[in-house]
Amino acid sequence: MNFHVLTLFPEMIENGMNTSITGRAIAKGLLSLEAINIRDFAFNKHNKVDDYPYGGGAGMLMQAEPVYLAYESIEKRVGRKPRVVYLTPQGQVFNQKMAREMAQEEDLVFLCGHYEGIDERVLEEIVTDYVSIGDYVLTGGELPAMVMMDSISRMVPGVLNNEESGETESFAGNLLEHPQYSRPEEWHGKKVPEVLLSGHHANIEKWRREQSIYRTAQRRPDLLKNSDLTNKEWNYVRQLRKQWKEEGLENK
Ligand code: ADE
Repeated sequence: MNFHVLTLFPEMIENGMNTSITGRAIAKGLLSLEAINIRDFAFNKHNKVDDYPYGGGAGMLMQAEPVYLAYESIEKRVGRKPRVVYLTPQGQVFNQKMAREMAQEEDLVFLCGHYEGIDERVLEEIVTDYVSIGDYVLTGGELPAMVMMDSISRMVPGVLNNEESGETESFAGNLLEHPQYSRPEEWHGKKVPEVLLSGHHANIEKWRREQSIYRTAQRRPDLLKNSDLTNKEWNYVRQLRKQWKEEGLENK
């Protein structure tokens, strides 16, 4: 996987991505990262890349030409039109399915906006995907690009030590992960659930699955409709909901 990031703050991308698991994967050559400074493609002597919006309004816009030239430098090297993700609160909201799908690409370009945005004309020419990381507004696209690259990286074979863990954690099958415990067996008077100490693998898996369903039903019920529950498991969810409803009424 080759990540190319078009940004006004390349050091922010490099510092973030060269750390921890993504940093290790870059060092191993499983991922490559280039952060391209759009300012290097400014066509005026002051290296200015922003200007006032036509029609007036607050703030400045990133101009089309430096963004286009910076993009073109990637296209020329890659030798074809790569997928270009523009980070914007106006985009489709990022999720695990998109991460999994994008991890199949050989090259991904992330375009990070700043100021009030980017001249629409260059977006029309180069952007293939408009993506948001959630319904809130950030000061620029760098953090969203890093969020996306981090989650896409975990889906690239070899990046995680344990090959399966990329898909066995939260959101695998649209369920949240079960709770986990490590030593000591008792902490602050709380004991590790007995079944986890039993060594009985099938019972442990059954308990974990049930905990995943319980947790998802409680914390993210919206995920259940796309999950892979059996009829029996749906009955369990119905039973939980009934119980929670009754408890809610009792409390009033
Ligand atoms: N740029 C500013 N806010 C953003 C968000 N929530 N997602 C993606 N890009 C952004």
